[in-house]
Amino acid sequence: MSAAANPALERPRSEIEDLRAALGQFATGVAIVTTRAPDGRSVGLTVNSFASVSLEPPLVLWSLSKRSSSLEAFRVAPSVAIHVLSAEQEALARRFASPSADRFAGLHRGIGPAGVPLLEGCVARFICTPYARTEAGDHLVFILRVERWARAAGPALVFHAGRFCGMGQDAAPPAAPERGVDFTRAPRPGIVPH
Ligand SMILES: Cc1cc2nc3c(=O)[nH]c(=O)nc-3n(C[C@H](O)[C@H](O)[C@H](O)COP(=O)(O)O)c2cc1C
Repeated sequence: MSAAANPALERPRSEIEDLRAALGQFATGVAIVTTRAPDGRSVGLTVNSFASVSLEPPLVLWSLSKRSSSLEAFRVAPSVAIHVLSAEQEALARRFASPSADRFAGLHRGIGPAGVPLLEGCVARFICTPYARTEAGDHLVFILRVERWARAAGPALVFHAGRFCGMGQDAAPPAAPERGVDFTRAPRPGIVPH
């Protein structure tokens, strides 16, 4: 029996790769999600599964591969930071998508609630607490409540068809008074700009 006739059977590798390529036609922003593990380690990875869900209450989601080395840390995390990357942060996106003993080594970082590591230079940052979680195939989907946020003007990093690209300056939102704190103005280490 073919995989198509019985979805319980494993799909051919080529079909999965084709599905991945089709899904990759959906251009997304790029974010780094960070938290503090119970043993005190800073953990974080690059994601493009981040999405907004609700304004009232303020909810967002992202999904994490069950193969992630940080699975347990995010499963129990009381606080998580989501950093939406700027067009200038492609190297950071690559660093947080590659295996490394310490992805934070040498980075200028602040500290948020529950010791969550905060990265600088992003176009938006959301400090979140857990709201709901569900298993979905080979990923865990986290729905988070946004407790605080900040944003900065500037073009965002974009991921499309397996490649990073910068958003045109014309497409960037203009600088505006903010509800969070404008962390382009006072990004000092150790200060939580919220
Ligand atoms: C643009 C981009 C988007 C990604 N999105 C996700 C994602 O949404 N969820 C995920 O689990 N991995 C995602 N990854 C892969 C992880 O960043 C990568 O596998 C990382 O090494 C996982 O690290 P960890 O095992 O320490 O969690 C993405 C990678 C890139 C380059």
